[in-house]
Amino acid sequence: MNLTEIRKIEHLNICLNQEVQAGDTLFDDVHLVHQSLPETDLEEISTSCEFLGRKLELPLMIAAITGGCEEARQINEALAGVAERKGLAFGVGSQRAMIEKPELTPTFSVRSVAPSTVLLGNIGITALKQVSPDRVAQAVEAIGADGLCVHINPGQEIFQNEGDDDFAGCADALAGLCTAVGFPVIGKEVGNGISRQAAELLKKAGVAAIDVGGLGGTSWTLIDSIRSGKDSSRFRQWGIPTAASILEARSAELPVIATGGLRNGLHMAKAISLGADLCGIALPFLRILSKDGVQGVENYVDALEQDFRHALFLTGCKNVAELRKVSVILGPRLKEWVIQRKLDR
Ligand SMILES: Cc1cc2nc3c(=O)[nH]c(=O)nc-3n(C[C@H](O)[C@H](O)[C@H](O)COP(=O)(O)O)c2cc1C
Repeated sequence: MNLTEIRKIEHLNICLNQEVQAGDTLFDDVHLVHQSLPETDLEEISTSCEFLGRKLELPLMIAAITGGCEEARQINEALAGVAERKGLAFGVGSQRAMIEKPELTPTFSVRSVAPSTVLLGNIGITALKQVSPDRVAQAVEAIGADGLCVHINPGQEIFQNEGDDDFAGCADALAGLCTAVGFPVIGKEVGNGISRQAAELLKKAGVAAIDVGGLGGTSWTLIDSIRSGKDSSRFRQWGIPTAASILEARSAELPVIATGGLRNGLHMAKAISLGADLCGIALPFLRILSKDGVQGVENYVDALEQDFRHALFLTGCKNVAELRKVSVILGPRLKEWVIQRKLDR
């Protein structure tokens, strides 16, 4: 087993057994306005949307979790199967392990259980300085993915013993990749959020969408400090809360994926009302799968769908596009963020 494979197993074990969430999404500071006369039938509301030109039944992606070991293969297969049956998008974890060791490819391959799912590959941005666009494209093609998430994780790398904290030249490497490949590339934070400035740099590099990976959910500074023993206590609240990051990122006028601490269908509705096009959830899927199996995961997706549908109904919206246009009331912390950062709402 090489270092990357060992790291994957340690990440899974820490996420399953320890407290790994930190910070506040600020979704409590987003208020949707109740409409007593929705003039629509709850059952006729459409929760479907389009992402990368394809239809999803719910604006939801099972965000990148794993790959690179036997346990990961089972997790990917189980969760991708749920994504296929429920019409969600699905992301595999970092494919670095399979680029280093091609025999690990099957631990990322989910097409046999998810033939029509919108499937995204994954690689870290610092790896783009060492791995050519051709090799990255081969990894994406090897699993039949429709696009690639490039994770951007400076907060994680500095607390990892083996972390790569040289981010100089990363934006150029990303731009080189975006120009060279024929599939959409998504710039993806993993828990510290994307600022307006970062969103503009990502747009300039040529990404097709931005996953904000905001503060308030799984904390990679925390997880990797548990592994390394480095003290990350002063950085637990570091980052841009997910709700604020949606508003920051949407200024770049690219599709926005809201990930980081979304836990229920009301969080999803709030994210969409702030301007997100798609929502992403990771940690709950991993934990529910481990505790309650595939049926538990399907029940969770049904509960997300039901809450989301209820939120559409109670805001008088017939579909997701209408929800993106409703007016929202911001609580004091999020409002202050918008004012001081001079963001549009
Ligand atoms: C066990 C685990 C492993 C993850 N591995 C990756 C990864 O390899 N690449 C990546 O881009 N994100 C990875 N993530 C981050 C998630 O995709 C997501 O951005 C983050 O966990 C925030 O969402 P959450 O609060 O719903 O968990 C991982 C998350 C978990 C829980």
